[in-house]
This record gives sequence, structure tokens and C-alpha cells, in this order.
Amino acid sequence: MTENRKIVLAYSGGLDTSVAIRWLKDLGWDVIALTVDLGEKKDLDAVQARALKTGASAAYVADGRHPFLELFVWPSLQAGAVYEKEYPLATALGRPLIAAMLVQVARREGATAIAHGCTGKGNDQVRFDVATVALAPDLEVVAPVREWGMNRDDEIEYAHKHGIEVPATSQSPYSTDENLWGRSIEAGVLEDPWTEPPGDVYAWTKDPRRCPDEPAYVEIGFKQGLPVSIDGRATDPLEIVTALNRIGGDSGVGRIDHLENRLIGIKSREIYEAPAAVLLLQAHQALEDITLPKEVARFKELVGQQWAQMVYDGLWFSPLRDALYAFVTETQAHVTGDVRLKLFKGSSTVVGRKSPSQLYQLSLATYGRGDAFDQKAAAGFIKLWGLGVRTAAQVQGRLPERELGNLLGDVKRLAP
Ligand code: ARG
Repeated sequence: MTENRKIVLAYSGGLDTSVAIRWLKDLGWDVIALTVDLGEKKDLDAVQARALKTGASAAYVADGRHPFLELFVWPSLQAGAVYEKEYPLATALGRPLIAAMLVQVARREGATAIAHGCTGKGNDQVRFDVATVALAPDLEVVAPVREWGMNRDDEIEYAHKHGIEVPATSQSPYSTDENLWGRSIEAGVLEDPWTEPPGDVYAWTKDPRRCPDEPAYVEIGFKQGLPVSIDGRATDPLEIVTALNRIGGDSGVGRIDHLENRLIGIKSREIYEAPAAVLLLQAHQALEDITLPKEVARFKELVGQQWAQMVYDGLWFSPLRDALYAFVTETQAHVTGDVRLKLFKGSSTVVGRKSPSQLYQLSLATYGRGDAFDQKAAAGFIKLWGLGVRTAAQVQGRLPERELGNLLGDVKRLAP
């Protein structure tokens, strides 16, 4: 390999990517580290310094928090994206953004490749690789962990041998990834799906047993499907998500135990903490319940599932997302209003929703005074609605006795 070929490495400051700097250098690469801040609250100056100390020729730290929320999380919230009914996709949504930023640094530095620290068994490698192919098909992707065949102990030994400081976080029995939309935890005792997650797995959410004895209420305001206020106070996306992670976490809301299907065919068990995501998805759904026409709501559910699968499977930068997003955007025009949630010892419940353009109309729904619904018209509607069933019963027959047996048994009959 020719000297001075530049490669941009997604650098977390952890053991894998620290060892990767050295390993890539030994292959002749000029390594440029990029650390993207997605809100994981770590000491980024220390990470940047560590990159240089470990052998990177330059170390970037970029703030990805706003683009993460506005370009990746918000559209997914509007779509109602939850993978396999459980996972709000925090890690999966962060990867395409990091890949896009790697590509931008590569262009700025004239690099010919990017690198990431993903293993060959997970979804994240797919997300990095496919996003890179979509944005910059000319760039090579190198995944050292997929190639070097070292286990954790080998890596620690390699680090000691090469004078690479072993980060304190590699003492944790778990593998974690976090950003503003959630925290993912796997490995250690969690690999036994019969074992209840021990308390030390959780960092953002309180044990429900230690939560306040009084419920907490929070009101979220939306405009066209996007959250714009909390308890009547208008705020920006970063503040909204940060506040809801704290409010939800204080009530123990947002713990998820998911036995999931990875793209590459393995089933794995992952624990998630995602208080803000859980609350926002729940509130957004409640507002759609009161504003979307029935047929749109039903079809949108399928779109949301497809969206989640697409994100999970690494197809963020794809024609499918463009097409799905056109549909999702169209549905959000009237998803404006407020939702009130009640949080109590690990659970959250929608207890109020209202919208200036709600399709819920009291005059139609009420059983009380002011009923505008024409009950007599129901008879004619049902006559035609049931016409097909009537015809089938008359022509082809349907004998209830045959499939149901005698349901009445020795019923008691009384006559005067
Ligand atoms: N299973 C999740 C996904 O594929 C999270 C992956 C990262 N998890 C971790 N603990 N490092 O999106």
C-alpha cells in the first residue's frame, strides 16, 4: 500500500476503536479520527486527546445532536417507527448520520476510505457500509474488528503491548451504545434471555419501586406531527428530548427488554432505555388517533412498520425512504395539538388529547344531549353493509349448529 492513503475512522474512544487506530496505522493508513456527539454526555475533549495519543494524525469532534434529531429522529417519530413493536431504533438511527459525517470528513481530507469499529455479527456494520455506498460509492470501507480475529482479551493484550491506554469503560460487563434517542445494552448476563436484567444495566431510568408515590403529568404540544412544546412552553428539539429523558427516567418509564431479529439472521437480546422516545411515540400516536381519518391511520401503521424495518436494516439512504417519507409527510398536516401523559412507577398512560382539527366530534360521539347523529340512517347502512353476508347465508347456507354445537345446554326457561 502506498504511504499517506488517508482513512477516516469513526472513533468512540473505547477499546475497539482505540486498538483500530494502531492496527490501521500498522497497515500503512494515515488515520483521521472522527467522534460524533449524539448527546451521550462523555468527555469529548478527552476522547479527542486520546485519539491523537493513540496515533491518529488528526482528530475531529463534531456536534451531530441537532441534525440527528431533526433529520433522522423527527421523521421517524412522525412515521411512528418502532422495530418489532419494541425498539425505537436509537442506535439504528445514529449510524447513517455518523456515516454521512465520515464521508464529509473524508471529502475534506481527501481520504480514500472510511473505517468503523463494528463486528461482523451485528446490524451496525450493515448500516455504516450501506450508507457509505449510497453517499460515496468510490470510498473503501474498512472494518478492522471484522477482520482482525481478536477477542476482548486479545485486544486488551494488544493494547498493553502497544502502550494504548485501556479505557475505563471496557471494565463494564455490558456492551452499550447511547445517543439522545436511547441507550442500548447487551452482552454479559443479558445473553441468557431467561435472566431478568440486573439493576446495574440501567443508567437513565429509576427502578419503579423507588419512583415517587404520586403520579407525574406532562403535556406535549405538536405541530404537524413534530413536538414543539412541553407543558405549554415552546422549546427546541434538543431541549424537548433532554427534558423528556429526565422526566420519563424519573418515573422509571422507557425500559425495554427485546429479543430481536438481527438483519444477518441471528436472534439477540437487547435492553433499551428510551424514556423520551417512548413518551413521544405514545403521545404522537394519541394525537394521530384523534386527527387521522380511519383509512389513513390503518395504512400508515403498515408504513410505520416498513419504515422501522428499513431503518433497522440499514437502508436509510435509499429510494424506499424517500417514497415512504412523501406519504408520512402528507399524513402529518393536521397532527397538531396537545397530549397529556400520566407517568407512574414505570408506566405512562395517555390521559388527554386535543387538536384544533380533531375528527373526534362530541356532537357525533355523545350519548348525552346535543346528539347530531342520525340513528335511523344506521339501519339502511347496515342493510347494505350486511347484504353480502345475507346473500351467502341464503344461497350457500351457514348452519350455526354444525360449527358451534348446542350453546344453550340445559338452559333455564321460565314463563308466567
Ligand atoms: N440491537 C441494536 C441495533 O441493532 C443496538 C446495537 C448496538 N448495541 C450495543 N449494545 N452496542 O440497533
